[in-house]
Amino acid sequence: MIHTSLSPNAQKDDIFLALSLLMRPFAWYQKKTVAEVEEAVRETIGVPHAVTVDSGRTALYTLLKAFGISEGDEVIVQAYTCVAVPDPVLWVGAKPVYVDCDNDLTLDVGDLQKKITAATKVIVVQHTFGMPARMREILAVAKARGIFVIEDCAHSLGATFAGAPLGSLADAAFFSFGRDKCISSVFGGAIATSSLEVYEKVLAVARSYPLPSPIWVTRQLLHPPILALSKATYNTFGIGRFILAAARRLHIISKAVEPKELRGKRPSFTKHAFSPALAALALNQFRKLSEYTRHRQACAETYAEKLQGMQGIELPARNDGRVYLRYTVFVEDPSKYRGKARAQGIELGDWYNDVLAPSGVRYAEVGYNQGSCPNAERLAERSLNLPTHIGITPRMINEIITHVFV
Ligand SMILES: Cc1ncc(COP(=O)(O)O)c(C=O)c1O
Repeated sequence: MIHTSLSPNAQKDDIFLALSLLMRPFAWYQKKTVAEVEEAVRETIGVPHAVTVDSGRTALYTLLKAFGISEGDEVIVQAYTCVAVPDPVLWVGAKPVYVDCDNDLTLDVGDLQKKITAATKVIVVQHTFGMPARMREILAVAKARGIFVIEDCAHSLGATFAGAPLGSLADAAFFSFGRDKCISSVFGGAIATSSLEVYEKVLAVARSYPLPSPIWVTRQLLHPPILALSKATYNTFGIGRFILAAARRLHIISKAVEPKELRGKRPSFTKHAFSPALAALALNQFRKLSEYTRHRQACAETYAEKLQGMQGIELPARNDGRVYLRYTVFVEDPSKYRGKARAQGIELGDWYNDVLAPSGVRYAEVGYNQGSCPNAERLAERSLNLPTHIGITPRMINEIITHVFV
């Protein structure tokens, strides 16, 4: 089966590790793995300080708290994002202000300048699908006005900008080790910064976070094996689909985004420390990061070669430092392509088909005015994600091209 999401990074060793951790609950309290992930973040990003937490959204929340952001403050985020980005802004009581994006899916600097006000305290710069944003211009705009800049590296662990690792360029950065990200521990996140002052403020907030409950950790550790079973039987009389639906419905595995988050509310798993058990999963993935990055870039090259010049398909922006978390092309009516793919047993991603993903976000409740970021809305309607994860072979790319695009 070819799939774009569904825990795409989990390989055999990750699945066995999750199973072995399930049988060793004493290891869930050995914080060595957490320290080792923090070391891996420092080394990869080339900064002196890193702090891990339960998720990317908690990482952003923690940074906003550390910067003292609260009611009356405005935080700039881009449209064409996940609701997990504006939500933490709402949780600290501030107002998310949405800026349009360029065709490369990163911040439109012209629109950014228009939306800055006296109340703007932070700009969150998202490197969407591993594409480096225009950091020089953005940092210049922010510096001139004394605004903090946070890099959102949820999609871009391992990517670079003019040779420098993304996440090392601004006041601070955050990362996600969520199930669909560059590396995965089902849930997980980290903060990186070069500033001792920021680090100490972050620690002052994060120090109070408790470890997640054993039940919550169990659910996350069950995720890789259950997803593996589901994928292995996905196209066998729909058994895999049933397993997945049942596991979700019975709350045996977690959802990436809880329903209340679609309305801007905070889910209870946030504001927790990184579980040492999930840190062990993240660490195993960190060891494979360079291999994953090279593989994603090679997949992107192959897609570009084969799709170049095909009518009605716009290819994603190229950049030497880009990590292609997905190879996102733009087409008229992506659902038609997804339907065609599904008929052949290929599940293409529907991530970011709404200007605020996933579908079902209550725009008014997260402060987004429909029509305010027209380019982001247009691109979301046309986005079709092609897979680049480690399980994708050149033969699979050929299959996708012939069954979906030819
Ligand atoms: C661009 C972006 N930033 C931040 C996040 C939040 O990360 P996490 O899921 O680890 O909370 C996501 C999640 O999908 C995302 O897509």
